[in-house]
Parts: sequence; C-alpha cells; structure tokens
Amino acid sequence: MNSIHLEAKPGDIAETVLLPGDPLRAKHVAETLLDDAVCYNRVRGMLGFTGYYQGHRVSIQGTGMGMGSTSIYVNELINTYKVKNLIRVGTCGTIQEHINLGQVLLAMSASGDSDANRLYFKGMHYAATADFDLLMKAYEVANQLNIKTYQGPIFSTNTFYDNVPNRWDIWKKHGILGVEMETQILFTLAKRFGVKALSILTVSDNIITGEASSIQDREQSYTDMMKIALGLA
Ligand code: HPA
Repeated sequence: MNSIHLEAKPGDIAETVLLPGDPLRAKHVAETLLDDAVCYNRVRGMLGFTGYYQGHRVSIQGTGMGMGSTSIYVNELINTYKVKNLIRVGTCGTIQEHINLGQVLLAMSASGDSDANRLYFKGMHYAATADFDLLMKAYEVANQLNIKTYQGPIFSTNTFYDNVPNRWDIWKKHGILGVEMETQILFTLAKRFGVKALSILTVSDNIITGEASSIQDREQSYTDMMKIALGLA
C-alpha cells in the first residue's frame, strides 16, 4: 500500500533517502548525479526518485518548506516505506560572522520553534540531535573530497518572515551556525521511530548582514553538499 501523500509502491524507495526542500532540486540531482533514476512520486508535485550512485541504491524526495510539510513526508517514509537513513540536503542562513556564504554545515543538533515539539514534549525542550554514525561518516566523506565543513548546532524555524528585531542575537551567542526550516522535526521523528537522520546545509545567505550568494556560487556549494550526502548511500 502507498501512503497518503506518496504514490510509491512498497520497495520503490531506497533505505537511504536524501531530502531537499525543493522537489525540482530532487529532479535535477536525479537527472545529473544518479544512474537509472525512476520517478516514484508526483502527488502534489512533490517529486521523488530512486536511482543509483556509484552502484548504491538511493532515493531523493522533496519535502517542501517548513516543519509541517517535512514531517508529513518523514513520517510516511519511515512508517510506510521503512526508510532507515534520512539525510536533509538544503540551504540555511548563517548568523555567525566567521562563516562564509557557500560553506557546508553538518548539523549536530537542531534547536527550534516547532510547535509540534512543544506539544509533544509538553512545553519541555527536547534536544534534537543528528545520528552520530551518519555525522561521522559525512565528516569523513567530506574530508576525502577535500570539502571543508563546519560541525555544530543549527536552528529550525517555522517563520521565515518574522520581523522581530535582534531575534537571532541570543542564538548567535549560543553558537548557532545556521537557520533553516526543517531539521528539528526531522531529527525528532527519526529518534522517535528508531532510524538515522542527518542534515547537511549550504550557507545561502547571512541573515544578519543580508548578504546572499550568487546563483553560480550556490550551484557549486550545492554540488559539494550533494556529493557528501550521496557518499553516505
Ligand atoms: N531563514 C530561514 N531559512 C532559511 C534562510 C533564512 O534566512 N535561508 C535559507 N534558509
């Protein structure tokens, strides 16, 4: 049986799934970096593909933006399709001065403002963390590929447009490297259901200065991130 938001048949999705927010990014990676890629989902335009990278079977599935949309796909991938390794590949804004645009972050933990977590943990604060094996392996793959990475905590928010002055000051002070919109719920659900998750992010902008990377720079750093993620398959 398929799930509510995915029309794949059981077995159509690999044990390791890369999760970009943008479904067209999933299509682009499937077409340019995978062999024999087959599209298994078109429901709501949230494209998903399974193919091979250097002989290893791997899937890539769009999640949409934000933790609400992401949690739908993560739940269904784990519970219906029995996926075991979920690796977000996305962009983030940095709030640190020493991190430049185009650099790649490996998220060790994700703080955030997920209301799902607030409800689930009854107002307490769960520390959502990456899977150590995937994190270590990603670090090793990046080193082998000569790609510099930063390891550290990130923040996942559900409000891209917040209009709160100095919102990030306290998070900057507490070492948050980047801000994005999906990882906190991914890490939480992976732990809840006993599977592995990691989040690899390229820095697309600096939230404090407003600086944003060019399309060409974004393309190069996105490819670096993708090679690290595919190396985990
Ligand atoms: N905010 C939230 N998510 C993001 C940003 C941002 O500034 N940049 C890239 N993803």
